[in-house]
Amino acid sequence: MTRLTTGGALVLALFACLPGLAAAQAGDDTVKKIEEYRQALAGGNPAELWEARGEDLWKRKAGPRNASLEACDLGKGPGVVRGAYAELPRYFADTGRVMDLESRLVHCRMTLQGLTAAQARARPYGSGTDRSDNEALVAFITSESRGVKMNVPQSHPKEREAYQLGKKMFFFRGGPHDFSCATCHSESGKRIRLQDLPNLTEAKDAQRAYTTWPAYRVSQGELRTFQWRLFDCFRQQRFPELEFTSEASVALTTFLARNANGAEFNAPAIKR
Ligand code: HEC
Repeated sequence: MTRLTTGGALVLALFACLPGLAAAQAGDDTVKKIEEYRQALAGGNPAELWEARGEDLWKRKAGPRNASLEACDLGKGPGVVRGAYAELPRYFADTGRVMDLESRLVHCRMTLQGLTAAQARARPYGSGTDRSDNEALVAFITSESRGVKMNVPQSHPKEREAYQLGKKMFFFRGGPHDFSCATCHSESGKRIRLQDLPNLTEAKDAQRAYTTWPAYRVSQGELRTFQWRLFDCFRQQRFPELEFTSEASVALTTFLARNANGAEFNAPAIKR
């Protein structure tokens, strides 16, 4: 019920911005969007469909070894899902690496279920009927951190290394426009067209941005993960594709997740 209320409140907040949108967009499109917001408002957050499918995937036996993922150690011990996402990315002694949720899931699908690396990494983002198991699993696992305070560790040297690398990436300028993340995300009250640009160098915006992903995107009719958000901002930055579960991806995630420490995690959310 809390979940539905949160979703509803967010949709209401988004709804309040619609007059601005209406002025800028073609009429038909706006009417359709309003209808989508109304439906979302009436039925709670559609992200719940992804959460339910993810829970099923977590518990269902699959792969060459016919095993479920329930023994997967997400950092708080085998099988502990509650609160795990709020402490990721973190260092894992069994792999000797800092891992975010997605790279840990790939690891568990390989070691527990016997998938190949290519199979475990396949289709990180879904579209329409081409659904992504990764997105569903992430929706389920993140939902189990709802209400938990972000507490990403920096005690292991490799965790500190990942944070510093991520910070460097955030401020690194390059590509055809000489953009860095900071170009679009280091001033308050900035926007592109009608979209608010969070100031990710400021605690409040950084916390809100991180703790509200994954999100059901009304404009796309899809649940999107934080990894997808980074992937898409790389595209906006005209950078080479951000490789799923790569060291760069984990480092940037570590930087942004750690900067959200202290804030309550509140996703899967619902967004424009
Ligand atoms: C060209 C400008 C631009 C650049 C460069 C850019 N972004 Fe973004 N970013 C955006 C826009 C626009 C949005 C909002 C999109 C929307 O609402 O649909 C956004 C949204 C985000 C969000 C989600 C915020 C929220 O509150 O939901 C995060 C996190 C983010 N960007 C991180 C990054 C990172 C990390 C980089 C560097 C790799 C980056 N961005 C580079 C334009 C940019």
